[in-house]
Formats: sequence, structure tokens, C-alpha cells
Amino acid sequence: MANAGTVWIFGYGSLIWKADFAFLERRPARVHGWARRFWQGSHDHRGTPEAPGRVVTLIEAPGAVCDGMAYRIGHDVFGHLDHREKNGYERVPIELEFADGTRTDGLVYIADPRNHAYLGPAHESEIAAHILRSVGPSGPNCEYLLHLAEALRALGADDPHVFEIERQLLALGAHRCAEADEPLTHPGA
Ligand code: SIN
Repeated sequence: MANAGTVWIFGYGSLIWKADFAFLERRPARVHGWARRFWQGSHDHRGTPEAPGRVVTLIEAPGAVCDGMAYRIGHDVFGHLDHREKNGYERVPIELEFADGTRTDGLVYIADPRNHAYLGPAHESEIAAHILRSVGPSGPNCEYLLHLAEALRALGADDPHVFEIERQLLALGAHRCAEADEPLTHPGA
């Protein structure tokens, strides 16, 4: 359980590598029965309402495991997090498992298929092409994907969906994306 007045939040997307909020503890963790998928549209960070980018959500998948990062935070941090995750995500109770096998109750932001920005499944090659052409107020969509893949490798996590999109994206020429300060110049744009 979290200490009094604090709660564990499980991050599986940008919350793994972009911790722009105060936390008391950070520990690698996983959740069971959920799969990470680039099926959520991003209108406010990695795309626009007219041209949404693609970011991750969790999809129920019995037997699956999703690795990420857990943060112990005070309730005052939810103002910031709810705003950051406002485009379709809801806080959902979830059981987390830490690397040492201990478990605790926590929360996770999930964008479920009924939300207005949901895009749904597509082949990894289509997702890579979509990500390559998308950009929003937080920067190029490919930066999100490449940072996530790097963070998952650092955690020793396997995620064939993310790594296949990364492979396809790099094959399309997104090598310098993660360092880009400027929005990516779109091929053909
Ligand atoms: C998360 O990282 O846990 C939620 C999705 C995101 O903000 O990328």
C-alpha cells in the first residue's frame, strides 16, 4: 500500500521518461492483463485535433504483462497529471507489481476505446508512418516513440509492438528525431 496521503501511479508511456512532476519515490513496476498499444490519438501533445498523433494506451489482454515505472506521489500532483492526460485518459485503479515481486494498489491513466480521441488498431508499419508525419505542441510524435523505446530498453522490458514500430520508423528515416528541438520536417511537406 502507499504511505498515508500518497498514492502509486503507474506510467507506461510518456510518464516513464518524462517525469515533469514531484514524486517521493520511483520504482520499475509492471501490470498484468494489459498490453501497451499506440492506439490513442493525441490532439494536444503529439498532434492536433485536425491531425492527431498516435500515443499509447492500455488494452485489456489476459495473460499480457506491461512494464513501466511507478511513482509515489501526493494527491496535489493530480491537478498537473489530469491536465497533462486530459485528452481521453481516465484514472483507473490497478494492481502494480514491483521488480521484487511485491504488489500494491495504485492508479493508471487509461484511454479507453469509447473516448473521443481513440484511433484504434492499425498495422505497425501504418502506425510508424502516421507517427513520422505527426507533430504537436509537445514536439514531434517520433520523439515520443523513440524516447519510449529507449526507456523500455533501459528497464530491460520487451515490447514487440513498440520495438517493431521503432524499427519501421528508423527504416523510414527518423534517426535524428529524438534530438530534434524543432518540429520534424515532414517528408513531402
Ligand atoms: C502514461 O504514460 O502512463 C500514460 C500515457 C502517456 O502519457 O503517454
